[in-house]
Amino acid sequence: MAGYIVEDTRKVTTHRLVEMKRNGKKIAMLTSYDYSMAQLVDAAGVDIILVGDSASNMMAGNVTTLPITIDQMIYHARSVVRGTQRALVVCDMPFGTYQVDPQDAARNAVRIMQETGCDALKLEGGIEILPAVKLILDAGIPVCGHLGLTPQSINKFGTYAVRAKDEQEAEKLRTDALALAEAGCFAIVLEKIPAALATEVTKSVNIPTISIGAGGGCDGQVLVVHDMLGMNKGFSPKFLRRYADLYSVITDAVGNYVADVKSGDFPNANEQY
Ligand code: KIV
Repeated sequence: MAGYIVEDTRKVTTHRLVEMKRNGKKIAMLTSYDYSMAQLVDAAGVDIILVGDSASNMMAGNVTTLPITIDQMIYHARSVVRGTQRALVVCDMPFGTYQVDPQDAARNAVRIMQETGCDALKLEGGIEILPAVKLILDAGIPVCGHLGLTPQSINKFGTYAVRAKDEQEAEKLRTDALALAEAGCFAIVLEKIPAALATEVTKSVNIPTISIGAGGGCDGQVLVVHDMLGMNKGFSPKFLRRYADLYSVITDAVGNYVADVKSGDFPNANEQY
């Protein structure tokens, strides 16, 4: 079986991720929202498991990430932590829990850390959320930034198209990245921005950048696990590489089960007491 052999089996820490950047070692990150998937993803050697607020889409069937609540994120993150041994577990702070009031943000961050046992939090945005980021860091909680396409702001953007194509937005992104790194974030996710800009930002900061649709010049890559496993047929952006066709595997298996039950073939004499 092809795959990746994990040489360093110690629990991944934020410090080791920064070290990986320094040593030119790429970082592999995937989402998970539940215990069973986290066990598989962790066993396969992923460095960071993101309990993304994309759980809103993938688990609950919402159109956007906005409806997911802090209680729901805590439930998902706690389940992932139980299934993870090696990877660093990062939980998204959901929409509305950090944008309004920095003090509130710090209280919500502490609650997520306490109730889930996760290792770090991710927040979307730059300068505008810096006071919240700083208070959370002051509380001793590692923070991962998220710039470029930030899905919690979809109603402001109006589209999921590539961000920072014009110079004004690109310049703001450069400034935001430097501010997050200077504040003490341990990594920054760069979503759906031009590869040249992501490469430039990666060179300008001393913390890892993790790309989703931001090209190969970043220090690592992240994908939504259901997308890379081919579980949903309807989503095929340019940046997505599918490593399996689980949609067909699962529907074939379930179809065969239904047929066997209907025909009376299952269970047979050896499958009963
Ligand atoms: O919620 C999520 O899955 C994310 C990734 C797309 C980076 O934030």
